[in-house]
Amino acid sequence: KELLGEVNAFQSTSREEIEAFRIKYLGSKGLLKGLFAEFKNVAPESRKEFGQALNSLKNAAEEKVASLNEALENAQEDSGIYGDLTRPAEPIQLGARHPISLVKNQIIEVFNRIGFTVSEGPEIEDDWHNFTALNLPEYHPARDMQDTFFIEKNPDTLLRTHTSSVQVRYMENNKPPIRTISPGRVFRNEDISARAHCIFHQVEGLYIDTDVSFADLKQTLLYFTKEMFGKSKIRLRPSYFPFTEPSAEVDIYWGLETETDYRITKGTGWLEIMGCGMVDPNVLQNCNIDPSVYSGYAFGMGIERIAMLLYQIPDIRMFYENDVRFLEQFKSAL
Ligand code: PHE
Repeated sequence: KELLGEVNAFQSTSREEIEAFRIKYLGSKGLLKGLFAEFKNVAPESRKEFGQALNSLKNAAEEKVASLNEALENAQEDSGIYGDLTRPAEPIQLGARHPISLVKNQIIEVFNRIGFTVSEGPEIEDDWHNFTALNLPEYHPARDMQDTFFIEKNPDTLLRTHTSSVQVRYMENNKPPIRTISPGRVFRNEDISARAHCIFHQVEGLYIDTDVSFADLKQTLLYFTKEMFGKSKIRLRPSYFPFTEPSAEVDIYWGLETETDYRITKGTGWLEIMGCGMVDPNVLQNCNIDPSVYSGYAFGMGIERIAMLLYQIPDIRMFYENDVRFLEQFKSAL
């Protein structure tokens, strides 16, 4: 009875004291062990009472140890994890920018440095801004249903097939000198593959002033590729666009250092990254700019292509699948 009183009265918030208490009563050489050993010396008529007293002492000691330990753990949790109420409930995750945004921002930055500003326009366009003002004759194949997503016919409303439409809007609303780039999403009714998608992103550039020549265009392209890729081995192939004359396609020599280089460049080391040319006088006229006073150049590039080279991404579809395992590799503060 005396020991039971002692057990019930015991209080402690120290792990060591609670452990000492456990050893004293419940340990392999503890008091209870000794008392149970006394059992055989107890007179038979008292054994029942003695046994019950020992059992309740044992239960009381075990309960005491368990409840004190639990209280101790709760107290530690309170002072530790929940103690600082200003701490966030969940650790803050650092986000990742989409690789298209990273590359787009980088392109903008490179052109900002030589005086180009950013202009934007609608993704849903009319025929004039996407085609007619850009010198596309009425039966040009680019107007075919194959390439363009039409929303309405007569008058035509469509998803813009390039951001040249923004340049038309810019020329209509601004006087030369003009230096602007137009980044944005464009849409083409094309089969989806590792190299092509029906939605992709472009940055198109426009430069209009007096005495602008093809040499200015070439120098700007050299500057751009050097800043963007750290190398500027490029070649210009004669080409055709209705809105520029002369026109060219720009290839960059990337080399064949990795298997992805091999896949992206189809084993040649060269990749077409841009279309460009001198703005056709008809286009200037359509936008109320006098072609006898002004001339200009224009260029347009696909952001996906460039991102694929820079980040060694073998398949264009990866940009649109939103697979977190892909996206979280672009963690960046930029
Ligand atoms: N608009 C063309 C395209 O979508 C690119 C381009 C822009 C070509 C400007 C020449 C000049 O492919």
